[in-house]
Amino acid sequence: METERLILRPITEEDAERIFVLAKDPDVGPMAGWVPHKNIGETLYVIRNVLNGPECYAVCLKGDDRPVGIAELMLRTKPDSDELSDECELGYWLGKPYWGQGIMPEASKELIRHAFEDLGMSKVWCGHYAENKQSARVQEKCGFRYHHTEPNRFVPQFNEYRVGINNLLTKEDWEKRQADINK
Ligand SMILES: CC(C)(COP(=O)(O)OP(=O)(O)OC[C@H]1O[C@@H](n2cnc3c(N)ncnc32)[C@H](O)[C@@H]1OP(=O)(O)O)[C@@H](O)C(=O)NCCC(=O)NCCS
Repeated sequence: METERLILRPITEEDAERIFVLAKDPDVGPMAGWVPHKNIGETLYVIRNVLNGPECYAVCLKGDDRPVGIAELMLRTKPDSDELSDECELGYWLGKPYWGQGIMPEASKELIRHAFEDLGMSKVWCGHYAENKQSARVQEKCGFRYHHTEPNRFVPQFNEYRVGINNLLTKEDWEKRQADINK
């Protein structure tokens, strides 16, 4: 997928070195609930076992094939069924040197379009921990609306509870927003 400034492409094991450099930063993972990577072996494990979903993408700046971050639509199955649900969840992180340039809102908007137009989704969810104001801003910029708070969301990698905020963007709201943008 392509936006004005970005290419979203599948992640490969060749990205491990670059992802490790960005993911070892103590300011990145903990805000999203994961521990900074300790070595490249751990990054390779994560590429193989966590960043392996069908809708998980390396976010790259045009003209440079190295990832600056990761964005994913996490697909779900319907309850008690193998059938794919028409609701999914957006997740993302960006290397610290690239913060504050609107990169993740740009990548997220393209993934949201992809979810509704190409994958036939009816709802996209997105969450953040209450203290993560940066991520809250990304979700506001993408048109998500507040849905509910989880006062005690368990964060396994830190063995602690945090307040989780869950936001929702429905296809209907997204279409209205697109119509307003195109007015
Ligand atoms: C959340 C994140 C993806 C935002 O991506 P981004 O492309 O920088 O998003 P934006 O450029 O729109 O910036 C969002 C907000 O971050 C804040 N911000 C910008 N630059 C910043 C910096 N250098 N340091 C701290 N905060 C900063 C600003 O409040 C900004 O909002 P504004 O545009 O209204 O001023 C990125 O900060 C990140 O990866 N954080 C760590 C991992 C994480 O939180 N993942 C999401 C888990 S839910």
